[in-house]
Amino acid sequence: MRIVLGVTGGIAAYKAAELARLLIRNGHEVQAVLTRSAQEFITPLTFASLTGRKVITDIFSSASPEATLSSSVEHIGVAQEHDLLLVAPATANTLAKFAHGLADDFLSTLYLAFTGPVVLAPAMNDKMWSHPATQANVEVLKARGHLMVDPGVGFLACGTLGQGRLAENEAILAAVEAALQPPLRDLTTEHILITAGPTQEPLDPVRYLTNRSSGKMGYALAQAALDRGARVTLVSGPVALKPPVGAAVIPVHTAQQMFDAVFANLADVTTVIKCAAVADYRPAAAAPEKVKKATASLNLELTPTSDILAELGRTKGNRLLIGFAAETSNLRDYATRKLEAKNCDMIVANLVGGPDSGFESDNNEVVLALKSGEFIDVPKASNTTATSA
Ligand code: CTP
Repeated sequence: MRIVLGVTGGIAAYKAAELARLLIRNGHEVQAVLTRSAQEFITPLTFASLTGRKVITDIFSSASPEATLSSSVEHIGVAQEHDLLLVAPATANTLAKFAHGLADDFLSTLYLAFTGPVVLAPAMNDKMWSHPATQANVEVLKARGHLMVDPGVGFLACGTLGQGRLAENEAILAAVEAALQPPLRDLTTEHILITAGPTQEPLDPVRYLTNRSSGKMGYALAQAALDRGARVTLVSGPVALKPPVGAAVIPVHTAQQMFDAVFANLADVTTVIKCAAVADYRPAAAAPEKVKKATASLNLELTPTSDILAELGRTKGNRLLIGFAAETSNLRDYATRKLEAKNCDMIVANLVGGPDSGFESDNNEVVLALKSGEFIDVPKASNTTATSA
């Protein structure tokens, strides 16, 4: 495939040279475009030597003699002649320009004229990355359908430890290959019911018991299922996420409400994915008034909630049933026990409690326990890459 590799001005620009080499080794043609500030960090000659093509360095430069451009307006021609636009490293400034449609150099002009898949691999100082302005731009670009290869955590050029370093070239390459795949539409006959997020079990009008869960995994699964053509019903506990467009979303708070919503919407469901972190217990009785601080200690009487997954297992029929297990140890053993006890087809077992995997994380490493007794290890990946892979 023909790939435009945009390189923007950051210390990680030197890593883009190796990336160009990897892309070529994977069978791609690479047209490098360097912004003015990228050239402060690395020379066009490096990319010209690696790609065998003249590098585009600014809005007025002329195209490579080898490149046969169908348009006399170079950025339009380059946009039309290439299959994918990759920007690595992408600076905060580039993300901002792309998000807002500014076109003041070759790369940003090309971006506006480009209609194919776009992969962005940001790299910057950790404070710049976490700044609300950058994060808002990232959200805009993701919502536009661009693939974001999030920066990794490590020592940054400024000497601090944080999130901001350019993702590994292998991860960028994997994102490029994924973005070049034609969209899979293999679930058009499926109706998938997904539960996501935590439940909240009220103690009194202002307090509740809950589980740690951001809902990110369930929402990413819903999006992936929609992308592949499935009809999706999303029964969701309280989360701070935008519901995927196209999903029928049923908001719930308690485990009982989730139970009722699942069974009321099960009619033509072909697959249930029980991603939600359902509270196993709820207060025996929720106080009608706020409980006042009267004694030194307070005992709560808890009563078990109905196990939705177990009930689904009992009344399963031909439906595919996928449960989740969040464990702090003995992952495979506990997953197998849950698989059998709840009559599931698969358990997605997740080791939680570590610093960068599990709850509220964008990264997840799971083991799939299958009915056949087989285990499939899914290495650490972002929730979105993992579900679209
Ligand atoms: N689950 C459910 N209803 C409940 C509790 C859990 O449907 N009342 C589902 C979850 O959505 C998840 C799976 O069961 O898919 C595993 O939940 P977990 O609480 O870890 O399993 P338990 O069987 O309760 O085991 P334990 O708490 O002892 O680990």
